[in-house]
Amino acid sequence: MTSALRPQVVAHRGASHENAEHTLGAYVAALDHGAEGLECDVRLTADGHLVCVHDSTLRRTASTRGRVSTMDLAELAELDFATWKNPWADLDDEAPDRDEESDGVLTLRKLLETVADYDRRVEVAIETKHPTRYGGLVEKRLVEMLREFGWDTAGSPVRIMSFSFTALQRVDRLAPEVQLVQLLDRGSTWPMLRRVIGRDWIVGPGIKLLREQPSIAGSISRSGRDIHVWTVNNDEDLQRCIDLGVKAVITDRPDHIVDLLDRRDRDAK
Ligand code: G3P
Ligand code: CA
Repeated sequence: MTSALRPQVVAHRGASHENAEHTLGAYVAALDHGAEGLECDVRLTADGHLVCVHDSTLRRTASTRGRVSTMDLAELAELDFATWKNPWADLDDEAPDRDEESDGVLTLRKLLETVADYDRRVEVAIETKHPTRYGGLVEKRLVEMLREFGWDTAGSPVRIMSFSFTALQRVDRLAPEVQLVQLLDRGSTWPMLRRVIGRDWIVGPGIKLLREQPSIAGSISRSGRDIHVWTVNNDEDLQRCIDLGVKAVITDRPDHIVDLLDRRDRDAK
């Protein structure tokens, strides 16, 4: 449960500080640590599957050439998305054995099934990445999948985020009840966005922007929108967010942030 002053803790790409990002293992760890929400980026494969991958290329997280958008899901399923995070695991007797299910490419479907089967409510913040060669097909497929889960209606545990206003407008047209989050990495775009985004949209500034321009939080709040901030990994930034009335913090370290918030709650009693 979140209190008025306690922001929701959302695991950024899973518990990605300690685990390879966007793997099932990283998300299960985040849930075990008490994360109330999970963040993921989605991209379309060449055969039309939504997969949870941040970069357009596979070099950083699968140590191979190629692009997500030009490969089929079956080809991506052959790749190892975990070893880059701990390349010396073979030499470490205490490192856990590789598990293909939790280390391979994660489909959005599998992530949503995991959330649906979990024994408490878990929210999912899904970010569509643009530009991409598939343009609006990403949001179309995403909304189709939400419909399959019955999660395209009010009360859905899923919200859709993007830096692209156009992408969010598409979701708004296709699934008007789904909560939307306009991501913000530069303060200069806010004066224009505040005039055009929906009154009930959430705004998602980066922590760097809030550090450099804290007054933007006041402007967002005065416009009547809630604030969700990425990526909040330490006590100082968490305190900054609490002081600014932020409703959700997106973090690579859900265990640490949950601990900090629990400690604050205990101290306040
Ligand atoms: O949660 C929003 C944040 O994830 C946006 O930045 O690059 O980590 O996707 P990025
Ligand atoms: Ca993201």
